[in-house]
Amino acid sequence: QTTAAPLIPESPTYDKLRKAAAGCQACPLWRTGTQTVFGEPEGQPRPGPRVMLVGEQPGDQEDRAGRPFVGPSGRLLDEALEAAGIDRAQVYVTNTVKHFKWTGQGSRRIHAKPTTAEIRACLPWLEAELRVFRPDVLVCLGATAAQALLGKDFRVTQSRGQPVASEWARVVVATVHPSSILRAPDPRAREAALEAFIDDLRVVARIIH
Ligand code: URA
Ligand code: SF4
Repeated sequence: QTTAAPLIPESPTYDKLRKAAAGCQACPLWRTGTQTVFGEPEGQPRPGPRVMLVGEQPGDQEDRAGRPFVGPSGRLLDEALEAAGIDRAQVYVTNTVKHFKWTGQGSRRIHAKPTTAEIRACLPWLEAELRVFRPDVLVCLGATAAQALLGKDFRVTQSRGQPVASEWARVVVATVHPSSILRAPDPRAREAALEAFIDDLRVVARIIH
């Protein structure tokens, strides 16, 4: 059973977790990824409700930068957060899986979906981040995060934008992953998908403002 669980420090802090995760080799993805991409920022830059966003796994640019959501998905996320009235600097952003998984296609590295075993192996890091950060509002971006935290039967398409209670936060809101908007077949579909995403984030804005 591969799991990061034995690597979680006792009485974890953000710094301890980040350092320990940097050396994680609990699942095979440490070989495909350049580095562990941990959540950030440390602490809460502002007083007020604590908001945590959870994606799937770092992408190509995140893998190089060592920071979550700095590539195309991240730019779309920033745009949507701003449109919803949420300051990115106000939220903690992390991923369900901390290493980039990809398949080669020429010189391009194409995102590959993490397996259930990889998600399970990495989950102790996310659970520890949740215990340390203690979000008031938790936002699951896409099915990987939603199912890891809310259960295998959770359906984002059915329950997106609907606040639910959970052990992880007072309120959990699930929505689509920003990359699904980037994959929309045409500009019209993209615009509609972006608007629906912003609407889900407005639910979060209403809770925290
Ligand atoms: N997609 C994610 O889920 N997370 C990132 O950090 C970047 C893209
Ligand atoms: Fe460890 Fe997660 Fe990276 Fe796997 S993906 S090696 S569990 S940090």
